Amino acid sequence: MPTRDPHFTTIIEPFRIKAVEPIRFTTRDERQTALAAAGYNLFKLRADDVLIDLLTDSGTGAMSSEQWAGMMRGDESYAGGRSFYRFEAAVREITGFAHILPTHQGRAAERILAGVALKPGDIVPNNTHFDTTRANVENAGATALDLPIPEGLEPANLHPFKGNLDTERLRQVLADNPGKVPLVMVTVTNNSGGGQPVSMANLREASRICHEHGVPLFLDCCRFAENAYFIKLREEGYQDKTPLAIAQEMFSHADGATMSAKKDGMANIGGFLALNDDTLAESARNLLILSEGFPTYGGLAGYDLEALAIGFHEALQEPYLRYRLRSIAYLGEKLTAMGVPIVQPPGGHAIYIDARAMLPHVPQSEFPAWALSLVLYLEGGVRSVEIGSVMFGRQPDGSEKPAPMELVRLAFPRRTYTQSHVDYLIEVLAYVNERKDRIRGVRLAQAPAVLRHFSATLEPAHGALVV
Ligand code: F0G
Repeated sequence: MPTRDPHFTTIIEPFRIKAVEPIRFTTRDERQTALAAAGYNLFKLRADDVLIDLLTDSGTGAMSSEQWAGMMRGDESYAGGRSFYRFEAAVREITGFAHILPTHQGRAAERILAGVALKPGDIVPNNTHFDTTRANVENAGATALDLPIPEGLEPANLHPFKGNLDTERLRQVLADNPGKVPLVMVTVTNNSGGGQPVSMANLREASRICHEHGVPLFLDCCRFAENAYFIKLREEGYQDKTPLAIAQEMFSHADGATMSAKKDGMANIGGFLALNDDTLAESARNLLILSEGFPTYGGLAGYDLEALAIGFHEALQEPYLRYRLRSIAYLGEKLTAMGVPIVQPPGGHAIYIDARAMLPHVPQSEFPAWALSLVLYLEGGVRSVEIGSVMFGRQPDGSEKPAPMELVRLAFPRRTYTQSHVDYLIEVLAYVNERKDRIRGVRLAQAPAVLRHFSATLEPAHGALVV
């Protein structure tokens, strides 16, 4: 079935809008006050004080009319509900895994996997751990080891699969640490590394190396559909395959997966842990019951499971994926044209501004990406998130080490904002870019030991954010 007319090239939102949610305009003075009250931490703002909320693409998207209809069919039985079986069938069709455990979100799946598979002293390699994945690995006393390919750490590098795992280093780590690596993870797409995809060839190779050492490979598959579409667009031999077939092949190289279904599950809550190993699955199910609930609902309502069963397939529809990737690339092209340095090429769910390149006068010790994210809010009411040294700078032993990159992520909720929202955002960035030399850094006033970016309080290091 053709998915577009050959005569027209404009890529449009493949939906029309049935329900709308007003957003609230504020003045710069109001935003200045809100920032101070929030301790210069965008996580602590009231969402009503935000005009365009690009904090995350997680659980913030719009559901389809089919999903809302599905919610009315949700079966709320405590055990063995119909909606669970629909959810399980959808996940099994896509992933092929034997055991599918629903969880309330991705980090619950990570915590359960860490709880049953890791022990102190273990090492878990990953292309790049997301912050909650890292925290769950470290909480189990294990070391979270990031092994991105070198190109993945160069923001301007145009490598088509910058999310790839460095398989040479993986081979080395496995050879040097026999018995200490209980599993390897690959995050698709690589969120902390710029939303960059992982190629099928890389997954195949990582899988081969893991299996030579008898170590299972797990995908952190939050954005599996976006990754599948990048493979279709960029990897030889996949042009004529459907995103579903590509996703199935991606999962065929793995032994299990953790998923935050708040991303490519197209729903507001949900996740899963899926795996083939019967013994591990048995322990995981017991741990699931302890904190999430019975294995046929795992902390979710029946209607959530129903919305997800529909959402997983909507995420794999080509017109949706084409629009999704194109709208991010559109923003990327405009920013590049105006000289705003971003991680290239644009990722699947977000644009990442390279704050170190944009604000070379702000030292890393003064958190340039955090400062820039505050200024985007102050000037334009736009909420983004820092992926830099506030998020990753604190080491498990309490010392500080600058993060490899200082990024500001503009993450797009799925099916939520239109092109004019993006055009407004481009104007805000142009305005801030013209004044970039006047932006000053920030310092930590107070911070917890783990996941400090969520609740830390900061303050301008030189009196004001913009001088
Ligand atoms: N793994 C990746 C790659 C993620 O991006 C996230 C969440 C998780 C795991 C954890 O899933 O939030 O459902 O518990 N990322 C969100 C973000 C929060 O903004 O990127 P969760």
